[in-house]
Amino acid sequence: MSTNIHPIFNRLLQREDRESLLHQRSVVLWLTGLSGSGKSTIALELERKLFNEGFMAQVLDGDNIRSGINKNLGFSLEDREENIRRIAEVSKLYVNSGIITINSFVSPTLAIRAKAREIIGKDFVEVYVNAPLEICEKRDVKGLYKKARSGKIIGFTGIDSPYEPPQYADVEVFTENQSVSQSVLKIYNFILPMIQIS
Ligand code: ADX
Repeated sequence: MSTNIHPIFNRLLQREDRESLLHQRSVVLWLTGLSGSGKSTIALELERKLFNEGFMAQVLDGDNIRSGINKNLGFSLEDREENIRRIAEVSKLYVNSGIITINSFVSPTLAIRAKAREIIGKDFVEVYVNAPLEICEKRDVKGLYKKARSGKIIGFTGIDSPYEPPQYADVEVFTENQSVSQSVLKIYNFILPMIQIS
């Protein structure tokens, strides 16, 4: 635990000041789902859509974050928890800057996502990118399922490490039979009333 620290939050410009400059209200969209479910594709398309509609949004993505700020973390449950804790803290900084974040992380357990929700608070919007394991495995965009099945990766989500689907996601998209743009539009329409300011 840190001691002798003197946070200056109360002297900073307020979030509302930045939000009104950006003409938006910020939220954290938390996309959870299996590897290969389509999270990152949707996140990037959604970022583009928001940008085109005049909103400032930023994608945070597992593979990117894990090559930078979280490069010392692996895939044990403990490391995944720490991964998500840091992402949630970073998202909180973004949201306080008035920027909408679109987070694309497997975030496999109910407890891990509950922790993220606890850190972020009322601005946390859970989006379940739902695709059956068989479909994700068939897509195998990164070739990781093959490696997991042959024992070259141990502890792969959905194979020998758990994925607990959300029970009450705010939005759910089904990527097996919805196109990327249909999923993006569903999420966009859901958040529009939350991010618009008059
Ligand atoms: S999380 O579980 O901590 O939320 P995160 O979203 O950051 O995971 O990273 C998941 C990405 O890391 C996957 O899309 C995949 O590309 C890669 N990866 C490598 N090893 C694993 C593993 N054992 N389980 C899941 N994903 C893995």
